[in-house]
Amino acid sequence: MAKKMYLESYGCQMNFSDSEIVTSILTENGFTTTDVCEEADVILLNTCSIRENAEQRVRQRLHDFKKIKKNRPGTQVGVLGCMAERVKAKFLEEEQILDLVVGPDAYRHLPQLLEESSDGKKAVNVILSKEETYSDINPVRTQGNGVTAFISIMRGCDNMCSFCVVPFTRGRERSRNPESILREARMLFESGYREVTLLGQNVDSYRFGLGQNEAILNFAGLLEKVASIHPELRVRFSTSHPKDMTDEVLHAMARHENICKYIHLPVQSGSTPVLERMNRGYDRTWYLERIASIRKILPGCGISSDIIAGFCGETEADHQETLRLMEFVGYDFAYMFMYSERPRTLAERKYDDDITDEVKRRRLHEIVECQKNLSRNKTLEGVGKMHKVLAEGTSKKSKEMLMGRNSQNNIVVFPTENKRPGDYVNVIAEKCSATTLIGRVID
Ligand code: 5AD
Ligand code: SF4
Repeated sequence: MAKKMYLESYGCQMNFSDSEIVTSILTENGFTTTDVCEEADVILLNTCSIRENAEQRVRQRLHDFKKIKKNRPGTQVGVLGCMAERVKAKFLEEEQILDLVVGPDAYRHLPQLLEESSDGKKAVNVILSKEETYSDINPVRTQGNGVTAFISIMRGCDNMCSFCVVPFTRGRERSRNPESILREARMLFESGYREVTLLGQNVDSYRFGLGQNEAILNFAGLLEKVASIHPELRVRFSTSHPKDMTDEVLHAMARHENICKYIHLPVQSGSTPVLERMNRGYDRTWYLERIASIRKILPGCGISSDIIAGFCGETEADHQETLRLMEFVGYDFAYMFMYSERPRTLAERKYDDDITDEVKRRRLHEIVECQKNLSRNKTLEGVGKMHKVLAEGTSKKSKEMLMGRNSQNNIVVFPTENKRPGDYVNVIAEKCSATTLIGRVID
């Protein structure tokens, strides 16, 4: 009988995208999937290491699984992803429940590793690769809505931001063959998908050599190729890096209506000395110049950010600079975090994690409050206007309503009427909550 696997994912979109690759590899090798961990033969956690609390959550989950393994001793439990890569074989000693530890570049070996560890032995593969992009693997999208999908266009990261564990867990940066990206996007469109999000830790450094005499394809070029598949296929991407985001990308966005006018451009801090210690490769002035370019080339473009509160040596004045920058830019949305020191990073080796938890928490709170105001104002600006919305599915709050997003990535809710997920719908926003526009359909 086919073995059943249960897979739980944590962390960024890239990790969720990897889970679709893992599902593909295992189903190709005779496994079936289940949403009920109690009935699984194989339990896998695709883990994240970005902050300490992400790792604590994984440890807690492993604790939960102990009971299941006690009731069904043959159950295999494995960790995949960034935490597997960071902790390596030591993980097997620390968590007795584990049978296997597999890093992000070793998923092709999963069937064999599961085989090896099936009689109580343990298996580890945390070898990072300079080439692996899983370009030939067709991701299995079990959790999706059938309308929007993620396509991974590169792996790894070469940036070495001083706070970040990713270069250690995901290895060197490598770009995926554009032909395989386009094939995947076309296939998605043909099977009814209407939006793809191109994923990479730093999409602006995408580069692929197209044979001996041909030019190198950069991100702007790739974006245009994907956008040209069909005008009804929306294209998004994440994440852009302020040091690498070019006007060429912005002009490509301007040329194609179907490339969504939304850019996630993490600033991390508004203070130049902090950015320098973060090793981000830009200062406050450079970042604001990039914002000015977006505003000029793409008026009305949505912009979001990541912000870290309480990085090493951050003064009260640095923190105020971050708040002022947020207000000046007027972010539509932001992911906001307290700094969490990570093993092996440059910051861990070089700087003292000297901001107390109390101060970090207070600064984060001020950042969150600031963003709440900005988001509310941004949502309000959308009221009274018309939005072209791609319907994604039923609204969480009401079965009679559909939800979708406009080009700027605002969530829009409207009465279902005769519309279906995958339809483009013109909606006049009549009111809003803090982050959602609510409107009526215009035919
Ligand atoms: N502590 C807090 N936040 C972090 N991030 C990355 N590393 C850390 C860390 N050590 C945040 C950054 C990044 C996002 C994915 O997570 O803001 O852009
Ligand atoms: Fe994603 Fe970074 Fe977490 Fe790895 S550590 S899952 S790359 S957010």
